[in-house]
Amino acid sequence: MLHTLWSVKGGSGVTLVSAVTAAIFARRSGRAVLVDLCGDQPAALGIAEPSSPGVRDWLASTDGSAQALERLFIQVEPGLWLLPCGTAQEWPEDRQPQLARVLLDLGCDVVVDAGLITDLGRSLASAGRSLLVTRPCYLALRRATSARVQADGVVVVADTGRALSGADVAAVLGLSVVASIEVDPAIARAVDAGLLIRRTHKALERSLRGVA
Ligand SMILES: Nc1ncnc2c1ncn2[C@@H]1O[C@H](COP(=O)(O)OP(=O)(O)O)[C@@H](O)[C@H]1O
Ligand SMILES: [Mg+2]
Repeated sequence: MLHTLWSVKGGSGVTLVSAVTAAIFARRSGRAVLVDLCGDQPAALGIAEPSSPGVRDWLASTDGSAQALERLFIQVEPGLWLLPCGTAQEWPEDRQPQLARVLLDLGCDVVVDAGLITDLGRSLASAGRSLLVTRPCYLALRRATSARVQADGVVVVADTGRALSGADVAAVLGLSVVASIEVDPAIARAVDAGLLIRRTHKALERSLRGVA
């Protein structure tokens, strides 16, 4: 299954939710792939910045095979593979649907950190499950209503003291809230220390049940 997570505003929590979701799938089923469209995943996962090519370079190359894509995977921990971002900025139009097909054919859970939604993210989102990650924030909701991408649900990352609730997010967007995640300083510290997926965050993993 292909799960594309995206946002309409930076700092929403897409990178964090994608990383933990992929780690849960990997531990549960023995294999999962995390596709990084933005470049923040190595830091979030606490691994060295790859100097090797990534998904963008595959899109721009002449070899569009699954094998060529799988050669770019980096093992993060047993069962969890990262497809790094790479550096290419342009690629032929037909490569985006081809990427979706190759990812679907991998036969395992594939989690895409699409970050701020782009055409590439839209193409992957439309090929599988599409989840908006957002804070319950008026400005984000305004943008989300014109994001030009179908969502199957929303992941709300909620800090305390917000005027808007998850129910408001659901009502404004006409989507169901599949997971509601608390902003927890211990999680922010784990990210900063590169320990996000090495430590178990029971509450966070429970909150993500509707995603993973
Ligand atoms: N549930 C959470 N608890 C604490 N901090 C969080 C949580 N989710 C995200 N953050 C922090 O918010 C910031 C933005 O998160 P990130 O996943 O990078 O967002 P995005 O990828 O949408 O830009 C990071 O510093 C991250 O550590
Ligand atoms: Mg990000």
